[in-house]
Amino acid sequence: MEPRVTRWGTRFGFYLAAVGSAFGLGNLWRFPYVVADNGGGAFVFIYLALVFLIGMPFLIGELMLGKQTGSAVIPAARRMGKEPGAKEAQGRGRYISMRLLSRSGYLAIATCLMILAYYSVISGWVLHFLVRFSISALWAGDFEPNSVLAILLNNGWLQLLLTFVHLLLVMIVVIRGFEAGVESWVSKLMPVFLIMVVGLALRSLSLESSAEALRFFLYPDFSQLTTASLGRAVGQVCFTLSLGFGTMVTFGSYMSERVSVPVAGFRVAIFDSLISLVAGVMIFPLVLQSLGQGVAPTLLFESVPFLFAKEAGGEWVGIIFFFCLYVAALGSSIGLLETAVANARETSKMRRSTATIVSALICLFIAVVPALSTSVLRDQKIAGTPVLEAWDGLLVNWILPIVAVLISQVVLLRIDQSHQKEEFESVPVMAMGRLYAHWRFAIRYLAPALCLLGLILQLL
Ligand code: PFF
Repeated sequence: MEPRVTRWGTRFGFYLAAVGSAFGLGNLWRFPYVVADNGGGAFVFIYLALVFLIGMPFLIGELMLGKQTGSAVIPAARRMGKEPGAKEAQGRGRYISMRLLSRSGYLAIATCLMILAYYSVISGWVLHFLVRFSISALWAGDFEPNSVLAILLNNGWLQLLLTFVHLLLVMIVVIRGFEAGVESWVSKLMPVFLIMVVGLALRSLSLESSAEALRFFLYPDFSQLTTASLGRAVGQVCFTLSLGFGTMVTFGSYMSERVSVPVAGFRVAIFDSLISLVAGVMIFPLVLQSLGQGVAPTLLFESVPFLFAKEAGGEWVGIIFFFCLYVAALGSSIGLLETAVANARETSKMRRSTATIVSALICLFIAVVPALSTSVLRDQKIAGTPVLEAWDGLLVNWILPIVAVLISQVVLLRIDQSHQKEEFESVPVMAMGRLYAHWRFAIRYLAPALCLLGLILQLL
């Protein structure tokens, strides 16, 4: 096997990569449309509460599992049943099957590839808008947001081609090596994008519709919630914080000794949630009229381009926006593919390049269904829901929370309690000792119970 990738030399490098993976289409594309589809402010309220109650504890757990075992999720979970202490763990974990836990890594990687498949399709949509804005800016053609979107949605083969181009780029970066790939891309563009999203949010706030939009987005009207809302908020938390994929375990395994796991978990979760909130402020004033009328995953693409199309020179702003969004999507896709590759290499003798090509091909194959979902498969429904939404809903609202709970139980049972505690106590802040007890309570009882409740309520 090729030598293992070195640990991140700097704390900054770790944060860039972890935040780069967390920050992606989940914040700008998925969050606004899920909020719009679930009644607005009350959903945002639940979502934010769950970031603290479920997201942070799980995130700390996944990073800890990687850092302590120094391995990816499949081998880390597999060791559950084999190493000394397994018997003891079996005793403590009688409420959950050891066999299931030790296989949870496989489930995480299968989910990772299935999600990367449709994530690549949506990244292809971003690429399409980037190309279209560039064409109108360079050749002074008119940018007609509605027709640009219609061309994309009606042409499944175009979507498949864009998906292929995206996966090819991701593959090239991953073959070149993890650190070089992710760090350099993310570090250069993320700050530009953040400034831009904040600037656009301010511009949106100057629109007439902003007061009403903010009320919809931030005022919690609990009568708008449905029984499915809790499960959907749990799913969004897992998706946006990259939990249940095994990604954060891989990141933890690359983490240097100097980075504190609880502090990292806290910062990544706060930063990621702030970005989602700013994205909401940017998008809602633009889409106020269409809210509550069966919001679709196209929401971002139906709203933001109008902001640019209206203004003189807006094409250039469009180019910068979609370029930055594309890089964010690329950073996340790299994180997803890297997770699959790291696991393949640690569990078999596969070379990095072979593992990368095989994983990308599997994704491309799976992506055919979501890529055709708005054209050839437009009339197909799964349980009354269009294919893309059904696919996204099943993976994000059902499978991710289940896998995230399983991985958290691996952490709870497999990592020596003294090591768990050390991670908290190494931070020179007084309250950390107490936080350790809260964290254990959260991953042992609170978070699994909330996830389970979310799943059951979705069935009603
Ligand atoms: N957290 C990313 C987002 O919000 O777009 C999605 C994601 C990226 C999940 C990378 C997992 C991952 F490895």
